[in-house]
Amino acid sequence: MSSSHGVSSLTADEVKISATECIDLGPGYPDDRPSGEVLEIWMKACADHIDEPLDSSERTRATDSLAEAVLGFLSIQGGSLRVLPASNGSTALHRALMAAIQPRQPVLLASPIIDIIPGMVSESRSSRVRVAQPIGGSLRVDYAALAYEIENTAPGCCVVVSPLNPTGQVTTADELRMVATACRAAGTRLVVDQCFAETSPWGTPVPHIAELVSEIEGLEWLEVWDTGKTFGCNDAKLGFIIGEGKLLAAAEEALHLVQFDIPHVLKSFFSQLFTSPSAAVAMRDAVSAAALVNLNALQKAASRISASVITPEAGTLALIIAAAGTPLSKPEAHNRLLREAGVGVIDGMCFLFGKTGNPLRRHRGGLLRFALARNPTYFAEGLARIERWLATDRSIS
Ligand SMILES: Cc1ncc(COP(=O)(O)O)c(C=O)c1O
Repeated sequence: MSSSHGVSSLTADEVKISATECIDLGPGYPDDRPSGEVLEIWMKACADHIDEPLDSSERTRATDSLAEAVLGFLSIQGGSLRVLPASNGSTALHRALMAAIQPRQPVLLASPIIDIIPGMVSESRSSRVRVAQPIGGSLRVDYAALAYEIENTAPGCCVVVSPLNPTGQVTTADELRMVATACRAAGTRLVVDQCFAETSPWGTPVPHIAELVSEIEGLEWLEVWDTGKTFGCNDAKLGFIIGEGKLLAAAEEALHLVQFDIPHVLKSFFSQLFTSPSAAVAMRDAVSAAALVNLNALQKAASRISASVITPEAGTLALIIAAAGTPLSKPEAHNRLLREAGVGVIDGMCFLFGKTGNPLRRHRGGLLRFALARNPTYFAEGLARIERWLATDRSIS
């Protein structure tokens, strides 16, 4: 399954899981049905504007209203910022990277990181630097070390993901400032993927880089956000590139290579959704509430499945670390869970990068990522299947 720019937005696991009848705890998008109010907004958007084709000024006005609605929903002060809509998160991310990557200059990434980013970076002609920053195997990105690396190697571009897929680590405002200040000093462009920023079930504040840039004059930056991780509705979703100045103009050029415009119905739907706080916030809160219940269930099940849970700070994903020597710690565990237990989860090893690697790489397995944005009954059935599978597996071996 690949998107318009040729880079798959799904991991190999996600593709396999989506093609299999199973309890799908793979992709991070919520899969519950939208509420009646959201459906009403959708029907209204579909009914609007079907009689006459829109002229270019009407299209621009609709894009401007959408941009304003997005910034309002994200509580970001507009000022000189602009917002470019894209057909989904991965298109927005890919085009932001293509605009920000400087020819033949290295790109600095932290590890762990969502695997599509190294894939997209390697598509460009730039060389890539990967930074693996294990702190006692805790899988936390060390932003002081990242800032140090920026200052010392002056890469062309640096990419940060907050909340992080797969661990749910949030880059704090101080950490974002530290990285951004280092980028400005080194002449490094900063791209921050904040696609999970609106789901914070545990109440952790998730600062947006777009809120902080006014403090760091001269920084070249882009932020990416999308609707899929917050609202699901995967056939009605959009990605956004937020930015300013020359880099935003470069991103606009890069977007035009892959899309003419986005469908008017989506502009209309999301403008109305974001300006009807009751519908948008209720949907976001329902996803967060389900994630809370499911994380709790996962934590309770952890000792029974011989694993520990890395508690996310925000987002709707959770990684588990299986105890060494147990069936879930084996490199093929995610495949066996899919085939034999009928449960789809993602192999967490695909998010680790870097030559020196993370201490967890030694296990060559044992990291599994669970999507928490699921109906709790459905999620509980997935956990029950894993427990039953483990019980059978133990009785066989
Ligand atoms: C952090 C992050 N950014 C961007 C994307 C791409 O989004 P999409 O698959 O909706 O295009 C993903 C997908 O999971 C993601 O996790």
